[in-house]
Amino acid sequence: MAKEIKTVGVLTSGGDAPGMNAAIRAVVRKSIANGLTVKGIKKGYQGLLNEEIIDMDRHSVSDIIQRGGTILGTARCMEFKTLEGQKKAADICRKHGIDGIVVIGGDGSYRGAQKLSQQGINTIGLPGTIDLDIACTDYTIGFDTAINTAMQAIDKVRDTSSSHERCNIIEVMGRNAGYIALWCGIANGADDILLPEKYDFDEQKIIDNIIENRKRGKTHHIIVNAEGIGHSTSMARRIEAATGIETRATILGYMQRGGSPTCKDRVYASMMGCYAADILSAGKTNRVVGYRNGEFVDYDIEEALAMQKTINEYQYEISRIL
Ligand code: ADP
Ligand code: F6P
Repeated sequence: MAKEIKTVGVLTSGGDAPGMNAAIRAVVRKSIANGLTVKGIKKGYQGLLNEEIIDMDRHSVSDIIQRGGTILGTARCMEFKTLEGQKKAADICRKHGIDGIVVIGGDGSYRGAQKLSQQGINTIGLPGTIDLDIACTDYTIGFDTAINTAMQAIDKVRDTSSSHERCNIIEVMGRNAGYIALWCGIANGADDILLPEKYDFDEQKIIDNIIENRKRGKTHHIIVNAEGIGHSTSMARRIEAATGIETRATILGYMQRGGSPTCKDRVYASMMGCYAADILSAGKTNRVVGYRNGEFVDYDIEEALAMQKTINEYQYEISRIL
């Protein structure tokens, strides 16, 4: 039997991502439209354990759809990983009358949501991460903004790379996942793309490629390197020593995680926020929302976490050919 939900909580957890505000806004406004009361939980699971809980109305989420970051704040919380922490969090929810929570975050945050649902609080997860590393969905909130930010930065580096006839390594985010590097590698026409999932650490191959390109008259050489491989500065030194071509490293870092969300991130985050509010209102729990084959869908958290994400082989192949 579906549990009747009267009050919905919403929180953001893990690394922030552009579009999280659009998702919060959608959860708040659609839940209110569904006749529910909404509370905002600040700073993720840590804020829940600290009872940093605020009332939210339509007006609380005015003027945020265009803003990066998350108005609720986000955090990583060790205490919530313990059973005691999870029980305490569920008791705090009950004390504040919260019977359902929308958790916007990555797969770590989904594990937290699963634990909370086991404690009797209905939970729905939304994929909020710039890394696109959640297996059950083809889209995650923030990825589109992050790749567009990184792509524009790499275009700029390429201009100066050509002028000075240099080799430039640009390091993009993605500690365990190479999707930002892969997409930017294709979009920026990179000469080498290094992904944690694929890189064989054969630097000689890169060096040979640089020398070969130079012989063919290419004035620049762009290498997009993922954070998961890292060491861009020392790699630049080694490449310069081996090729005699001036080589520089640029680490784009947190600029990729901030900034005003793209149209796609605003619209998809709004759709997903509304979808989460609707399935929570219908009494569903322990579900995550995804985007698959052109449609918004939801999965059991267990099932979603068991899925494996791999780099699309055809996309990887064309990145090397182009
Ligand atoms: P992301 O959600 O971006 O993957 P993390 O992996 O850091 O980020 O997870 C965010 C938070 O979710 C953690 O700080 C912790 O509070 C909670 N969390 C992660 N894994 C678990 C788990 N196995 N059980 C309970 N809570 C978890
Ligand atoms: O949010 C995803 C991400 O940006 C990864 O690409 C990166 O590895 C990680 O977060 C860094 O997070 P932090 O420095 O905030 O721990």
